[in-house]
Amino acid sequence: MTNRPPRAAWRRTRQRWGLNDAVNRRSILIGLGAVGAFLAVDLGAVAYANKWIGSDSARRTFLDGFRTVNGPQLGFRKNHAKGLVVNGYFESNGNAADLSRAALFRPGQVPVAGRFSLSGGDAQVADTPGAARGLGLAFGFPGDEQWRTAMLNLPVFPDNSPSGFYDRLLASKLVPGTGQPDPTVTKAFLAAHPETAAAMAIIKKHPPTAGFGDSTFRSLNTFYFVNGAGTRTPVRWSLVPQQSSAPPPRPSDANGLFDALIQQLRAGPLRWHLLITIAEAGDPLTDATVGWPDDRRSIDIGLLTLTGAATEAPGNARDINFDPLTLPDGIEPSDDPLLSARSDIYAASYRQRTGEPTSPSPVRVSEVGP
Ligand code: HEM
Repeated sequence: MTNRPPRAAWRRTRQRWGLNDAVNRRSILIGLGAVGAFLAVDLGAVAYANKWIGSDSARRTFLDGFRTVNGPQLGFRKNHAKGLVVNGYFESNGNAADLSRAALFRPGQVPVAGRFSLSGGDAQVADTPGAARGLGLAFGFPGDEQWRTAMLNLPVFPDNSPSGFYDRLLASKLVPGTGQPDPTVTKAFLAAHPETAAAMAIIKKHPPTAGFGDSTFRSLNTFYFVNGAGTRTPVRWSLVPQQSSAPPPRPSDANGLFDALIQQLRAGPLRWHLLITIAEAGDPLTDATVGWPDDRRSIDIGLLTLTGAATEAPGNARDINFDPLTLPDGIEPSDDPLLSARSDIYAASYRQRTGEPTSPSPVRVSEVGP
């Protein structure tokens, strides 16, 4: 199957943002539940964001949006602020070698640096089961070509456009007094974003598992595996846990999900099978709010083994940007408009946070009891 080259994808994304007028509405849901007021002053900023194409002003609009909702969060990621660094390796079984010429899909092992996280820009937030769980991974030997991916434990993503994400971000601002998003705004947001309402209905049917260790993580965005002959195959990938359970978080532990993960890792390595699922004609390739039918062909292409965890600190995965467009030769992006936006905004978040003074993460490996 074929697709436009990435440059055309980028151009299309730019056009889409330039023309998209779907943003002059209310917004939002938060991570997966909040909503907040959409201030008149934001309309101009959003309109400007829609003309964005990687401009400084557009990036700043998003960063300002995160700051408006979460405060400065100095030194932390502006989304998925709370996290834990992990490391391990990936063992390819060679099953993807016919579909992708990427060296890491030849049989063999490569090191992996990773980061588990919770969605949202508040680094001090107490863990909740409903917050979307993230896993960022960087595959490859230092200095070699890398493959980076940032996945979620959701069946679909709530938004299918950068402007939808921005709307949802602003709406996630909690209302002082209630500590909740404004329900009126939530209702208006969902009415204006039927794609998010539909995605949320799917997400509700897939309640989260007990912890990070037994979660399935998915790419949600579509990519192309490209083989030596140049054949492009549209795929999404997922990490399916080999362990069928995770220790439940201790009640009243604000870091319960992370602490349980640390304990589970101390008891032994955790493993996930890396599966690719292949699209068939007609499957949506540019809309992450829509899943593919369950009967699509999946191939197990290797095993991820995580062996250790570390508190976030400069010098480990805290300083990695899990940019979804850091791809090896043999994997290419689809036209999904989220991808180039993610790449650009993650870089802006990275530049901002690495230029700020740092505060310690609340998740500390050494403080977790046996
Ligand atoms: C337009 C849509 C999106 C925007 C604007 C956005 C924004 C961000 C930002 C600003 C960060 C922090 C980056 C850093 O400082 O390194 C981040 C992290 C993350 N995002 Fe997104 N995101 C979007 C869509 C997605 C999607 C579709 C997924 C998964 C399928 C995802 C999964 C993650 C994960 C797992 C992290 C944490 C990575 C880490 O640990 O460094 N995001 N996102």
